Amino acid sequence: MPPYTLPDLDYDFGALEPHISGTIMELHHGQHHAGYVKNANVTLGRLDEARAMEDFTRLAALERALAFNLSGHILHSIFWKNLMPKGGDRPDGELARTLDRDFGSFDKFSRQLKEVAATIMGSGWAALIWEPIGKRLLITQIYDHQSNLSQGGVPLMVIDAWEHAYYLQYRNRKGEFFEAVWHLWNWKDIAGRLEAARKLDFGLTAGPR
Ligand SMILES: [Fe+2]
Repeated sequence: MPPYTLPDLDYDFGALEPHISGTIMELHHGQHHAGYVKNANVTLGRLDEARAMEDFTRLAALERALAFNLSGHILHSIFWKNLMPKGGDRPDGELARTLDRDFGSFDKFSRQLKEVAATIMGSGWAALIWEPIGKRLLITQIYDHQSNLSQGGVPLMVIDAWEHAYYLQYRNRKGEFFEAVWHLWNWKDIAGRLEAARKLDFGLTAGPR
């Protein structure tokens, strides 16, 4: 059994239409996400071999491959759980209160997240993260799958801004895709991630919150 496996979706490939086409979902999950899972496992195997052979000549490339593929696996796994058919609207309860506290209002939060997705140069993600030392929500622009993410930050809600996430359906109109996902958010899932992340205690200087 390899260390990482491709998780099944909680819904059919076509269940997010018309906002995300079934063709995109099938390719995105079955080819792109599956590729990251496969390559994370392959890279772990190569690291095992490198230790066994005491040959560390390719170590830097292997570490980079592990960070890229494992982060790709984790972010896609979160993205699928963040979405649901007939989702959207707005969160309530503690998630809504914390978004208001840290971003000023839900509208300011959603505007920033969409802009962060739209202004990525190259491939990347927009992510709402929980920062467990300052105990606050932040939005992060992630390059590829792993660069520019604050250490310790826990991704709660992510938008895939790679062309493979939208191009077959939206072509170069990526702003329309970044609007469309707001019909699909599973706020219950995102609120549950916040609740779990809040329990993290790094044993470092706490912020005022
Ligand atoms: Fe993707």
